[in-house]
Amino acid sequence: MQPTHAQSADLSPRWQELSADEQRLYLTLDPAKIPQHVAIIMDGNGRWAGRRALKRFLGHQQGAESVQYVVETASRINLPWITLYAFSLENNLRRPKTEVSFLMKLLRSYLTGNVKRMNDNNIRMAYIGRTHELPPDVQETMQWAAAETAHNTGTTLTLALNYGARTELVDSMRAVMLKLIAESKQTGRPLEELVAETTECDISGSLYTAHMPDPDLIIRTSGEQRISNFLLWQIAYSEIFVTDRLWPDFRGIHLLEAIQNYQQRERRFGGLGESFTDEKLAEDATPALQ
Ligand code: FPP
Repeated sequence: MQPTHAQSADLSPRWQELSADEQRLYLTLDPAKIPQHVAIIMDGNGRWAGRRALKRFLGHQQGAESVQYVVETASRINLPWITLYAFSLENNLRRPKTEVSFLMKLLRSYLTGNVKRMNDNNIRMAYIGRTHELPPDVQETMQWAAAETAHNTGTTLTLALNYGARTELVDSMRAVMLKLIAESKQTGRPLEELVAETTECDISGSLYTAHMPDPDLIIRTSGEQRISNFLLWQIAYSEIFVTDRLWPDFRGIHLLEAIQNYQQRERRFGGLGESFTDEKLAEDATPALQ
């Protein structure tokens, strides 16, 4: 069995800033298996408000509070990357204008109100998505928050904004094609030859997430069992954790619970796992095929 934090004393330098409940859970985790990247589909703000007979916007407001709690716990356990699906392309196109405009205002006020806390927690802000299509004042605040936190070296919080995975793939393919055309012109090599040499690395290197590891764990709140056009390429081998808890009720302790559950899984990446070696398989009689 792998040692736990309690046995190995391999603790995040800031673990004592966790709440008492979080500390108890954190100490049961295997330090060697803390995920490098957790991505979250934050869902259920509207239902949270509906169950309390409140307006939908209050659910989103409460959801923004959850973002800060969860991200600060992530930073206290030294989680290197956390990516949150905050606003999809589909949200932008299909939600009523008043809701979209409220979400934009909420994002601005979240960023302006939390940059100090980000810096206190050594958190760096980043974004993925077609952010250039967002309103100019929102883009300005986003750039300001990223610049204000750029020097931080702890957790990177990436907000997916005006994000859609299929569109990301379109943008990536376009970038790859333009690169190949330029290379063909420069070197005189036929385009067909360069196309035939294209690899997975060329595509992943042109995604918005080129600089990050793929998510190890993807969490979805509010019980829906779907991916909703989020990081389709990057989650090929991610572990999925779905909880019925609605996003406004999600806290750092629930992130730790999801990580604990993740640590109980065996990740095989298409292989058979450690117990199936060639020697072990050779010991088993192979039935003759008819
Ligand atoms: C889903 O709730 C959530 C969203 C539309 C996006 C997430 C937005 C937030 C957490 C609020 C602000 C975030 C930041 C970073 C400031 P839903 O409306 O789809 O819920 P429902 O399915 O219950 O209606």
